[in-house]
Amino acid sequence: AKDLEFPPGFKFGAATASYQVEGAWNVSDKGVSIWDKFVHDDPATIVDLSNGDVACDSYHNWERDVEMAAELGLDYYRISLSWPRILPTGFPNKISEDGVNYYNKLIDGLRAKAIEPMITLYHWDLPLPLQELGGWTNPLIADWFEDYARVVYTHFGDRVKLWLTVNEPIVICDATYNSGVSAPGYLSPDIGSYICNKNILLAHAKAWRLYDKEFKPKYNGRVSLANHLLWFEPYSEEYTDLAELALQNSAGRYSHPIFSEAGGWPPGVEEVIAKVCLEKGYPRSTFPSFSKEEIELVKGTYDYYGMNHYTSSSRRGADSLALRRRPRPTREDTLNPEGLRKQMAWLKQQYGDLEIMITENGLPTYDGLNDTTRVDFYKTHLEQVLLSIHEDGVNVTHYTAWTLMDNFEWADGYTIKFGLYEVDFTDPKRTRTPRESAYYYSLHFCSSALLGLSSASDLT
Ligand code: BGC
Repeated sequence: AKDLEFPPGFKFGAATASYQVEGAWNVSDKGVSIWDKFVHDDPATIVDLSNGDVACDSYHNWERDVEMAAELGLDYYRISLSWPRILPTGFPNKISEDGVNYYNKLIDGLRAKAIEPMITLYHWDLPLPLQELGGWTNPLIADWFEDYARVVYTHFGDRVKLWLTVNEPIVICDATYNSGVSAPGYLSPDIGSYICNKNILLAHAKAWRLYDKEFKPKYNGRVSLANHLLWFEPYSEEYTDLAELALQNSAGRYSHPIFSEAGGWPPGVEEVIAKVCLEKGYPRSTFPSFSKEEIELVKGTYDYYGMNHYTSSSRRGADSLALRRRPRPTREDTLNPEGLRKQMAWLKQQYGDLEIMITENGLPTYDGLNDTTRVDFYKTHLEQVLLSIHEDGVNVTHYTAWTLMDNFEWADGYTIKFGLYEVDFTDPKRTRTPRESAYYYSLHFCSSALLGLSSASDLT
């Protein structure tokens, strides 16, 4: 990939999520989220007994965050909105002025530096009152989400052109209900997880259709969702079918209903799940079907494909279809960057020539400011993106590094670090310092201002 180049117009960004960086969990009239409750009820659910009460304190440090995005020379910065910060009750009967102002300042701050905001409506911090009504297992949530989306598009739609409805439904539904390690912390495998699968797709579809009908004509933005895609490699040839089924059961569950021509659940998946349910003693399948109307509602609700990618794994054995804990990217992933390219080729083969935006890709490492392992991760993965473009003819247009800075890494607290910038969590100011990976990323891919500040000469 040495001589290949990114096409003109290819865009580079970095991402964060509200609960992971904002802090200020109870300022002003902000409502309580399921993550606020989860970490406070039982601190031992987080490995280092920490929480996101303060996190990077981006609520107060947002100007520094904008400055960092500018230092890197990012084309865009992907953030998420905290639903309970904007709607303290979860419903639009009350809109928080302070919540809206916070995001207005951040959006305007980015735009003033020519950095485009890319906004996710939901990155896991559900308003608690909605959880008490069943959260993602209550079918009415599709309407609640649409109402929230309307508030968001109305307030920010004039300045935001890139939208994602939900981040990683597979983690929200499957990993969460199957392991209990994420908020709301309930175990409901086989039931809650499957009901959530369907409701979250309907919620996405309603929010997409709302934008398409009422906001797109005046603002001309684009909306999708961010799917967490794990690449499953057959362990050996005899496992090819199993690996394909694992892909349909994971990537396919959240892609086929939206991106395929037929719509509905992916081939084979409903049948396999029905069989497993019977084997487990359920009198009927607990996996909800779509009606014809629902298939039509969900089908085609995209303007591009949003893809988060961290890990690849090889598949064999009976347990291959279980979607359990959130898979951790490991150091071995630096050795397996081809999974990213293969995954994009699979998407193209399944759903046609979609525009793909890589909405997250990154690696946790522990080598401080001199994070050469992470540099290597970005280098090898970006090479694969180049090969996808030039060899496979994949229409990938955006690449997003996860993450701009170290932050609250869910059940792993602050023990896992993904940041281009290191954050000092012992310092009340939460000082942020660029790592070697920040210099590398900005120097090679963005129009860096960091270079003026220091040097990364050993990387050139
Ligand atoms: C999530 C991020 C998370 C990252 C690393 C992704 O699945 O979207 O919120 O920090 O993985 O674990």
